Amino acid sequence: MPRLSLTHHLIRCEREHGLDPNLRLLLETVARACKTISHAVGKGALGGVLGSLGTTNVQGETQKKLDVIANEILVEANEWGGYLAAMASEEMNAPHGIPVAYPRGNYLLLFDPLDGSSNVDVNVSIGTIFSVLPAPKGREPVETDFLQPGTRQVCAGYAVYGPQTVLVLSVGHGVQVFTLDRDTGSFILTQENVRIPADTKEFAINMSNMRHWAPPVKRYIDECLAGKEGPRGKDFNMRWIASMVADVHRIMSRGGIFMYPWDKREPDKPGKLRLMYEANPMSYLVEQAGGAATNGTQRILEIVPKKLHERVSVILGSKNEVDYVSALHRRA
Ligand code: AHG
Ligand code: MN
Ligand code: MN
Repeated sequence: MPRLSLTHHLIRCEREHGLDPNLRLLLETVARACKTISHAVGKGALGGVLGSLGTTNVQGETQKKLDVIANEILVEANEWGGYLAAMASEEMNAPHGIPVAYPRGNYLLLFDPLDGSSNVDVNVSIGTIFSVLPAPKGREPVETDFLQPGTRQVCAGYAVYGPQTVLVLSVGHGVQVFTLDRDTGSFILTQENVRIPADTKEFAINMSNMRHWAPPVKRYIDECLAGKEGPRGKDFNMRWIASMVADVHRIMSRGGIFMYPWDKREPDKPGKLRLMYEANPMSYLVEQAGGAATNGTQRILEIVPKKLHERVSVILGSKNEVDYVSALHRRA
């Protein structure tokens, strides 16, 4: 495959699919920010980026230094670009408007600046997840303008900061993977039209919560654990990295099912993961790669958000497996 940079790939999308050139420029800005975050992550203890800050975010979670650093890098890079009307982040209470002195554009950017915070200090893969929605025309956006279902996303992507830094992207025409060439600083297209196998023998779930799960989830995992002798007639393998980006990236690479379902630890919360910053962008990418994503009873991309920091139950990955879990929910 000839070496094609992210810019070249997006220019090709302009030619072949009519991609808005401003969306290309926005994505290049986001990619540049991810490169900067990757650099900060790579410095580790030498860069003074590890550890906690002692502050909490709007969701009551303790913030790591890198949560805040990554958030600042994304905000600063995108503020003056001219392609955004506003942005929202897991780490900011309210949407961040574009300062009046700066040019503005037609898009809303949402992000989880640093996903997998619990893995920062132990040198395990972490990442950034982002989503782009259209902004209202002719006026400044307000918080309710962000509350669009995932089907309205014009682009979603994530970066994984692991042994390699990769950027995985979809602008609505399949999923492409770019690997950061650390020598030249460019993201190079390394995989086109990723397809998630429809069947799998690998599941990802935090098993320590088993006693809190709802019956359909418990039943599904029990069936997986029963292996060849059980109703599924095959042995399953398990993986749980505790960074959604890394778990989803494995599923993009070889299939599998990822679940962070509702559980009765906090019965009033629909789930742990965030609809706008995690579930929607990942569901968009998974569907673009031929997989499926549901909260058990509804396609995630069709959920109409009621609030910016809304949480949701997430079941996504290999299509037949996700459909099987949905069927168990219907039968319950
Ligand atoms: P974040 O670091 O952005 O708060 O997200 C962490 C999320 C997700 O990446 C991961 O799948 C999950 O939390 C892990 O949760 P547990 O520690 O409960 O397993
Ligand atoms: Mn996250
Ligand atoms: Mn985060």
